[in-house]
Amino acid sequence: MERSARKLLITGVSGYVGRAVAPPAAAAFASVTGTYHRHAPAASPEGVTLTPAAIEEIPALIRALRPDVVLHTAAAWRTEEEARAVIVEGTRGIALACAETGVRLVHLSTDLVFDGERGPYAEDDPPAPVNFYGAAKAEAERIVAEVFSRADEGRPSTPFHSAQDGPALPRGAVIVRTSLVTCFDPPDPRTAPVLAALRGEAAAVTLFTDEYRCPVRTEDLAAALIELAQSDFAGVLHVAGPERLSRYELGLRIAAYYGLNPAAGIRPGLSSDSGMARPRDCSLRIDLARRVLRASLHPLPKP
Ligand SMILES: NC(=O)c1ccc[n+]([C@@H]2O[C@H](COP(=O)([O-])OP(=O)(O)OC[C@H]3O[C@@H](n4cnc5c(N)ncnc54)[C@H](OP(=O)(O)O)[C@@H]3O)[C@@H](O)[C@H]2O)c1
Repeated sequence: MERSARKLLITGVSGYVGRAVAPPAAAAFASVTGTYHRHAPAASPEGVTLTPAAIEEIPALIRALRPDVVLHTAAAWRTEEEARAVIVEGTRGIALACAETGVRLVHLSTDLVFDGERGPYAEDDPPAPVNFYGAAKAEAERIVAEVFSRADEGRPSTPFHSAQDGPALPRGAVIVRTSLVTCFDPPDPRTAPVLAALRGEAAAVTLFTDEYRCPVRTEDLAAALIELAQSDFAGVLHVAGPERLSRYELGLRIAAYYGLNPAAGIRPGLSSDSGMARPRDCSLRIDLARRVLRASLHPLPKP
């Protein structure tokens, strides 16, 4: 990876994705600052300057620091109110500060902006979220697109678009929709409880056979985000894994990877019986990512 002379600000560097992206970011950028909120990392990731900042303080940080790029991963959604405050209003402030100061924005979004009725989804399929997390992320996407389209008014190039439609804007924003960010070893926060159940260290878990996603390897997502931070691609991009797997199939993969008996820790179940508003098939098409990214999107590791 080329090392750029530029400055990067990562929001949410204390989160799962933020922690994964910090090492490749430090290798790729001359200067990297990362924000945290409630969980101060025990040690600074090498090459990253840590800064405490609540979401509403980040716009001022952008104006003061004047990074070249902001990689926005911070999010919280324990309640609908929190999702609105952090995901919707937090992203609005960050997008406005970036657009005003000419800072490129790489905004991390989710496959859950879709309703799960017509997967696999392409970048230009219309979002139709079924839960408040997806709704907040979809609204944040709309805000980023609108703020950057407005900032580009009067420029000779076309407004917010994806690279397939024409030349990318020199600066601008990327909305990266990703899926379950997955690592078997060390286990990501969703893999860890499944592994604990498979090892008999926790009660067995029920995993849905009728709910599909395209899990992406954590290191592949991190590499793609750094590449996008350095590129001039503007628009929406799906960065997910190449396999469509049910939650249960994902559990079977974890068991196989560790050579554990799946029957000991995971049980198949039906999302449709759960009584929850959960999208059934949020698998993503990644044809565009394959065309525009040098970073590869691998299947999950096999034993
Ligand atoms: N992980 C996945 O499978 C997945 C899948 C699709 C999309 N995404 C998207 O990827 C992004 C990162 O997800 P993640 O799994 O890394 O989430 P995470 O582990 O929960 O991390 C969230 C980050 O946001 C920060 N944050 C939370 N509330 C904040 C506030 N009020 N002000 C400032 N910072 C705040 C947290 O800081 P503290 O911990 O220090 O409080 C943390 O650094 C999110 O935008 C999410 O929607 C994730």
